[in-house]
Amino acid sequence: MHCKIFLSFLLLSLFITTCLASERKRSKQRPGGLSQEKPADETIRELFRDPDVSRPAKRQIQSQRDSTSSRRRIRKIKPLAYKSQVVSGVMYYVRTRVTDRDSYQIWWIKIYEQSWNDYVKVVNVTGPQDEDEEVAYF
Ligand SMILES: *[C@@H]1O[C@H](CO)[C@@H](O)[C@H](O)[C@H]1NC(C)=O
Repeated sequence: MHCKIFLSFLLLSLFITTCLASERKRSKQRPGGLSQEKPADETIRELFRDPDVSRPAKRQIQSQRDSTSSRRRIRKIKPLAYKSQVVSGVMYYVRTRVTDRDSYQIWWIKIYEQSWNDYVKVVNVTGPQDEDEEVAYF
């Protein structure tokens, strides 16, 4: 009899421990919110020196520009500021200045990076945006 009670107690403790552990794990994996906007730093500039970022970013912006500006080739994308979000890796929301021959526009570029396995991808772009607006979730 005592043995049965003890066994039930043991099983119950085991169950509770397992539940708590998996809950902790889940909350760690839950994606965080967006950080404060920070000026572009070396991490972000380095991201934009990577052709795996700059080429698809240019291509995606070029294809979304209106017919007037899409005739002019993009010369440069300069990161200005960014926010980040932890999602088993990092999602960067970068405010950039996109320059062509005779004008520029502000475009937001969303980049997903898993630094531990060297994976980086341009997820989306949106623009042109207002000059002074903080980059936001999109
Ligand atoms: C990309 O961003 C645009 C503009 O916010 C949005 O309408 C579209 O659904 C997004 N596409 C993807 C694949 O997230």
